[in-house]
Amino acid sequence: MLDAARLRRATTDDAADVAEVYLISRRAAAPYIPRVRHTDDDVREWVASIVLVEREVWVAVIDDRIVAIAVLRDDFVDLFYVLPGHQRRGVGTRLLAQCKRQRRVLRLYTFQSNEPARDFYEKHGFRAVAFGDGTGNEEGEPDVLYEWRG
Ligand SMILES: CC(C)(COP(=O)(O)OP(=O)(O)OC[C@H]1O[C@@H](n2cnc3c(N)ncnc32)[C@H](O)[C@@H]1OP(=O)(O)O)[C@@H](O)C(=O)NCCC(=O)NCCS
Repeated sequence: MLDAARLRRATTDDAADVAEVYLISRRAAAPYIPRVRHTDDDVREWVASIVLVEREVWVAVIDDRIVAIAVLRDDFVDLFYVLPGHQRRGVGTRLLAQCKRQRRVLRLYTFQSNEPARDFYEKHGFRAVAFGDGTGNEEGEPDVLYEWRG
């Protein structure tokens, strides 16, 4: 069943909720991606003072709860996370479609080990354009640069 998510731009009032979606979803993805190299409080502070102030943030809302986040910076999707209980129900597809409406080109990095996300992006027309050995990200894990052109 598809979730009837509503999409909207996030505001600074959403900082705590956006940070929670990132922390919870990223933690649940531990089998595929390394853990965050910052404390939860540092992440909350970064989301409130940098992400929601300087980036373009879109959220999917179900029953007044933010269940997914997309953070755009120039042509890059910096963060893309759906809460575990709402995954594989079309929310990510809808949020990614919104990102595509905002840009003619989108790029993003994901970890090479993140097979579910790679499958998801490839289904939506992204193609791998560069493979990194991990020296380019703070976790030090091999990554892949994906690109989509509308
Ligand atoms: C990857 C992610 C963003 C996709 O969003 P979503 O709402 O679950 O995706 P949709 O329901 O729109 O699309 C589902 C497709 O995504 C892929 N996918 C998502 N979760 C998956 C999983 N756990 N295992 C395998 N494939 C998965 C599959 O291709 C799936 O299609 P299928 O159900 O027909 O097999 C989401 O699962 C997520 O937040 N994952 C954890 C965090 C993450 O890795 N974010 C990306 C960082 S770059």
